[in-house]
Amino acid sequence: MTPPFDVDAVLAALTLEEKASLLSGLDDWYTQPIDRPGLPDAVPSIEVGDGPHGLRKETGVDMVWVPATGFPTASAMGASWDRDLVRRVGVAIGEEARAEGVQVVLGPGVNMKRSPLCGRNFEYFSEDPLHSGELGAAYVRGVQSTGVGTSLKHFAANNQEIERTRISVVADERTLRETYLAAFERVVRLADPWTVMCSYNRLHGVHASENRWLLTEVLRDEWGFEGAVVSDWNAVHDRVAAVKAGLDLEMPGTGGRTDADVVAAVRAGELDEAVVDAAARRVLRLVARAFPGAELVDGPVMQLGHTAGDRLSADQLALLKAEEHHALAREAASACLTLLRNEDVHGSPALPLDAAADAADAAGRIAVIGAFAAHARIQGGGSSGVDPTRVDAPLDALRAIAGDRIDYAPGYVYLPKNAYQDDNLATLAAHGVEFVEERPKVARRSATLAKELQLAEAVQRATRDALSPEALRLQDEALAAAGEADTIVVFAGLPLAFEQEANDRDTLALPGDQVALLNRLADLREHTGARLIVVLSNGSPVTMDPWHDRVDAVLEAWLGGQAVGGAVADALFGRVNPGGKVAETFPLAVEDTPGQPNWIGERGTVLYGEGVFIGYRWYDALRRGVRYPFGHGLSYTAFAYADLAVDIVDADAGEVVVSCTVSNVGAVAGDEVVQLYVGDPDAEVHRPLRELRGFERVRIGAGESARVEFRLESRDFAYWDSAAERGDGRRGVWRREGGAFRIEVGASSRDIRLGAEIDLPDDPALPALVPDALLMGAATSRFVEGHAG
Ligand code: BGC
Repeated sequence: MTPPFDVDAVLAALTLEEKASLLSGLDDWYTQPIDRPGLPDAVPSIEVGDGPHGLRKETGVDMVWVPATGFPTASAMGASWDRDLVRRVGVAIGEEARAEGVQVVLGPGVNMKRSPLCGRNFEYFSEDPLHSGELGAAYVRGVQSTGVGTSLKHFAANNQEIERTRISVVADERTLRETYLAAFERVVRLADPWTVMCSYNRLHGVHASENRWLLTEVLRDEWGFEGAVVSDWNAVHDRVAAVKAGLDLEMPGTGGRTDADVVAAVRAGELDEAVVDAAARRVLRLVARAFPGAELVDGPVMQLGHTAGDRLSADQLALLKAEEHHALAREAASACLTLLRNEDVHGSPALPLDAAADAADAAGRIAVIGAFAAHARIQGGGSSGVDPTRVDAPLDALRAIAGDRIDYAPGYVYLPKNAYQDDNLATLAAHGVEFVEERPKVARRSATLAKELQLAEAVQRATRDALSPEALRLQDEALAAAGEADTIVVFAGLPLAFEQEANDRDTLALPGDQVALLNRLADLREHTGARLIVVLSNGSPVTMDPWHDRVDAVLEAWLGGQAVGGAVADALFGRVNPGGKVAETFPLAVEDTPGQPNWIGERGTVLYGEGVFIGYRWYDALRRGVRYPFGHGLSYTAFAYADLAVDIVDADAGEVVVSCTVSNVGAVAGDEVVQLYVGDPDAEVHRPLRELRGFERVRIGAGESARVEFRLESRDFAYWDSAAERGDGRRGVWRREGGAFRIEVGASSRDIRLGAEIDLPDDPALPALVPDALLMGAATSRFVEGHAG
């Protein structure tokens, strides 16, 4: 693509002050434009806008956004295990960005889920780097295919929200390379994101924004990243140090304050002007890359006129492709649905429900209980929040299928979204939530967001307290509604306040009023014999004691985006066969979770003492029972696995092809997520029992079979050997140790159906994602001295 201006010619004509001005934003969402006589070309301003689950274009009014399609959040999309679906959602988000005039979408997030307590886990795909890297790359490819850029975030080791701006992560290099950097590496190498966003936290005492090892040595020199590094919002503390480390664009703008720091440092001889030039060139290239979209700077939707807070007109919705994208959001929500439990009731599975039952027949009555049925939970709190073009409530969708059979009761109070609306505060007060203005744990530049955070803390506190009279009244009403029902469908899950940027959960339990409601409904059903179904809405795992064993089915709907209602109704009545699988282990108890003793750290430091053992790698190493293992998800049909073939194509190169036949042995068509794991039982270092090295989601008709094939490369067998010489004076290489490897194919990490063992020789050369680059970085790694794992 031809840039609209010659980057080098423009750069050569810029003054030092102008170059420095390019290195920070114009304001919160725009880059700095430059236009003056004497320049070969004007430098336009481009706009960035939040994602990742839908577009959040600013309106100029704090916390008010132009409507856009709200897709399922990343943790939901993670449960789809569907690269092509993620790509297509990316395309839709890119199209909306063009329609509304945003040139870079701030996503995807591919941070690892070190603990399920992290308040932002709903924004991340999974606890596994291969899975996150593959889906992250699909998202980037999708968005960027529309000519809109992405920002891969938050680089790196941003795995908790409390103290996120100052916490210092201490982890050995092997842990970083194998666990916390690997998904970023995969996306950078496979999909070439236009920008990478550095994280807030420190790594070994150095803020990510000033961390040369991260931003230059690893990201650029080793992985070959050629785009621009953008700061997370207000993540820069020392602008000059950040420029030296490789951070190009500071966001938001600082009104010229930090540009002046850069100019002064160059004049004082502390900063080489060539470093400023390199950063300015990368920002110019970003602007030039975006320019084919910038003829639509405002976007056709905005050109029709929009005032903050307005809904979009029919013409604007048409330009946004709102109908088509809503249908895609529904398809995506369906693909994410994960059937966790489905026990037999009177000899057949509790789900799906019979759509044809007679309303006049008492046996056909369905009690729908839970405020989330009427108020769909579609997304989490914080910067990823989209103002959806519309929302389909599950209750409406259920009524559309079985209207006259349904009775509804809210069962618990619906905790409202924002703290800054008075009626919300009144509802909270009625529920016993005391809202006190207090210092939030994390400073925010937006007063409204800070208030929302305080609300989140108040809600979390209140749900630990005794139940309010209002909660008991709602439960009594729900029990009355459920008393005559043949089927009780309870919508439960986490209120928005529990899953919120800048805050972490302090419990994995559902809110106390919901747990009480579920227990009382389980008691009731022991008398009435009703089937009891739970639909969950949450972006990350919850614990299910003491109610889990007392319910017949659990359908995980995640934070399923604006079309989740129809998707859930379809699945409950068997119009859609759920095929999602969890991409984050559901533990039995919070005490079991990875890194618990060190979770959130102390005195500003958090030690990743569990090393590479997070997620299923942790539970497997401890042989610990879990509620639902990584990769688990049921179906309305069943799949059989057979005929494993393992073909070593090139032993030295580690090229291995694994294939098997998966057959749908049930009565309905369905999707199966086939997973390939590799283990290195005789490794000289502590390695996980098994690690995901391939996955495919396949649709198989009833009675039909599919042959599924995976290709492995040397890196799939390797670990990061921190001690090995690189050959350039530095240490640390990917190393495939010769010997036996276990190949396993399964329906989950704890449901391995087929296995084989192969022998591969030692591979002293670097296994290849890109064969030569890892050995060749010229700069010295900080890990050479003192930090090697
Ligand atoms: C978040 C980023 C987001 C940015 C802009 C930050 O607080 O961490 O994910 O893109 O704000 O809203």
